[in-house]
Amino acid sequence: MLVGCGVSESGSASAAAPQAKAGAIADTIDGGLQGKKVLVAYYSWSGNTKAVAEQIQRETGADIFFIQPQTPYPGDYRECVDIAKKEMNENARPAVANTVDNMDQYDVVFVGYPIWWGKAPMFVYTFLESYNFQGKTVVPFCTTGGTPISGSMADAQKSAAGAQLVRGSDSSDPAAVSKWLKDIHAVQ
Ligand SMILES: Cc1cc2nc3c(=O)[nH]c(=O)nc-3n(C[C@H](O)[C@H](O)[C@H](O)COP(=O)(O)O)c2cc1C
Repeated sequence: MLVGCGVSESGSASAAAPQAKAGAIADTIDGGLQGKKVLVAYYSWSGNTKAVAEQIQRETGADIFFIQPQTPYPGDYRECVDIAKKEMNENARPAVANTVDNMDQYDVVFVGYPIWWGKAPMFVYTFLESYNFQGKTVVPFCTTGGTPISGSMADAQKSAAGAQLVRGSDSSDPAAVSKWLKDIHAVQ
């Protein structure tokens, strides 16, 4: 199994300014998670991202939601890679089969995905573009064979229009994920 490469610094937020200005990626969740309603929404093809999503759910007490593509991806790696490449090249927006029940209730949404061709699977952008994230905090995380999360952060920010993004994690290592959750003030 391929594993991630640690937590990467993403975006342009300065370490000295945790309260990011509009458009910038924040270093921390402003005020932490206390008193906030939290969702972990994720997709996972081979289980790595699912494990991280479930760890985040356990550590934060969040609700969890599996983002289900309308057309499931083939179990065969080569076939999946070919479809994912075509969708990425076409900047496609494949349909999502399910919807979050009352997204309005959530203040903070963790969004998790495997890196596919340097980005999130394209239907994850469909997911992000289906909701109004104005006033919400979005925290991306991914697992990867080595490509860092940074390449997908700008796209996530564009798709989750109006959200405050917080710097993501691209690690599959539970200890690194725990440290990242502390660093971004998701847990104390
Ligand atoms: C279709 C496809 C495309 C991938 N593209 C990349 C890539 O561009 N860079 C990379 O480092 N890993 C890539 N990988 C590896 C996955 O990002 C990595 O194995 C990830 O942990 C899988 O997460 P999952 O088990 O939640 O599906 C790709 C895997 C698949 C199936």
